[in-house]
Amino acid sequence: MIQVSKEANWQLRHFHLISPRMTSIWDLANPQLRDIAVYEPGKPIEETAREVGTELDAIIKLASNENPLGPSPKAIEAMRAALSNAHLYPDGSGFYLCKAVAANLGLAPENVILGNGSNEVIEFLGHAFLNPADDVIIFQYAFIIYKLLATSFAARTIELPTPNFQQDLGATLDAITPKTRLIFIPNPNNPTGHLDFAARHRQLHVARSQEHRCRFRRSVF
Ligand SMILES: Cc1ncc(COP(=O)(O)O)c(C=O)c1O
Repeated sequence: MIQVSKEANWQLRHFHLISPRMTSIWDLANPQLRDIAVYEPGKPIEETAREVGTELDAIIKLASNENPLGPSPKAIEAMRAALSNAHLYPDGSGFYLCKAVAANLGLAPENVILGNGSNEVIEFLGHAFLNPADDVIIFQYAFIIYKLLATSFAARTIELPTPNFQQDLGATLDAITPKTRLIFIPNPNNPTGHLDFAARHRQLHVARSQEHRCRFRRSVF
């Protein structure tokens, strides 16, 4: 026989009352998360080696942003040195790294934001700017994370068509609504590889010409 504490017993009964037909933890999750497809990462080289019957070192993986040269020897050295301090919490603010990056770019340290990859920084944008029913503008054939971000914050994704795989920055002006909070203009774009040399100027133009009616004017990244 399994005995549960009084409190657990109450919780079980109470929970049952709230949701008598609950069959999955998903029933309690934020509804916008339910339709998000699970991200399938690039195939590991072990799987490819098995499939084609070859050795691991005969494969050069380039499917997910890898570089075929391996990590920089300096990065390996720095990671080895950091291992001996792995029992301590690191400096979460990355004080020295921020300072060095800022000096390298000629910026103030407060203009630098660090993340575990740019995906995390993109997610920060959602936390900082998105509320349910806000609008996020992206181009068709954009990096999948933009749409996932909008969906996971219950925002609406406005997807602009990209005929001939060209990003039409001018079209973003017409797509802006009073609820637009973020516009993603990747340069170069993934997955099309489209590179817009004049993009910076045009982004500024987009931001400036909307100044009077957009809350996000300082949020063009
Ligand atoms: C346009 C774009 N942004 C961001 C990322 C995320 O890169 P990471 O988190 O590895 O820095 C990718 C990765 O493919 C990308 O293509």
